[in-house]
Amino acid sequence: MATLELKNITVKFGGLVALSDLSFSINAGEILGLIGPNGAGKTTVFNVLTGVYQASAGDVRFEGTSILGKRPHQIVSFGVARTFQNIRLFSNMTAIENAMVARHCRSKKGVVGAIFRTRSQKHEEAQIQDKAREALAFMGVSDYADTVASNLPYGLQRRLEIARALASNPRVLLLDEPAAGMNPAESAALMRDISRISDLGIDVLLVEHDMKVVMGVCSRIVCVDHGEKIAEGGPEEIQNNPKVIEAYLGQPAKKPTK
Ligand SMILES: Nc1ncnc2c1ncn2[C@@H]1O[C@H](COP(=O)(O)OP(=O)(O)OP(=O)(O)O)[C@@H](O)[C@H]1O
Ligand SMILES: [Mg+2]
Repeated sequence: MATLELKNITVKFGGLVALSDLSFSINAGEILGLIGPNGAGKTTVFNVLTGVYQASAGDVRFEGTSILGKRPHQIVSFGVARTFQNIRLFSNMTAIENAMVARHCRSKKGVVGAIFRTRSQKHEEAQIQDKAREALAFMGVSDYADTVASNLPYGLQRRLEIARALASNPRVLLLDEPAAGMNPAESAALMRDISRISDLGIDVLLVEHDMKVVMGVCSRIVCVDHGEKIAEGGPEEIQNNPKVIEAYLGQPAKKPTK
């Protein structure tokens, strides 16, 4: 069953067609890779799925229900969380505060409850803090709970971004180039983390340029180029697909010479 589904999505920016009649779904239990050259439309897919951009045609469904036109905070409350290609932490807030902000998005009490601190509101606040601590622990950043985000080294900021997304208790997690700027040891650790996240029952959509990471963790991969899907299949199939090779190299795949 599809958790998140893009159906015939087209996104235009003026005359530029960023996504063209694009359809694919993220199925329950899978780690789906989304690859493609620079400017192919991968981040635009994330922005459509999370309500940041509106599609000019097509539909987005979460567990069968259309979420087209919903605001980003409403989509978070459905259970769709994301990280950003360029880290977007609240740089002056501590790690735990960053994780708690994410959880507040799903708070039942909302802003009014936060102002008039009722007993149930205090109870919920404690629960939010517990969940945030759990997410930091899961991503191995508990020791930095009280460190201001901007003081964390880059690799830990990336981990904190994922922890913050997890703290919102998602059903699906969208990761936009989580390995960018990581050294090989950090990206190997990231691969293990993505598998652990999947083991929690969270479906993952992974956009990543590091093919070792993509091929190592994804069960299925969708490749886009110029906003169109050019291939879909298992890691082996994708690596050998001439259209994928051509999109990356900008020329037709040559037969190996021996
Ligand atoms: N807000 C916007 N306004 C105008 N054009 C945009 C906007 N967002 C994206 N685009 C354009 O849409 C196309 C797809 O961009 P997108 O960021 O989705 O690519 P990408 O696959 O994520 O690339 P990269 O691998 O470099 O991150 C590009 O041509 C980009 O310039
Ligand atoms: Mg991008």
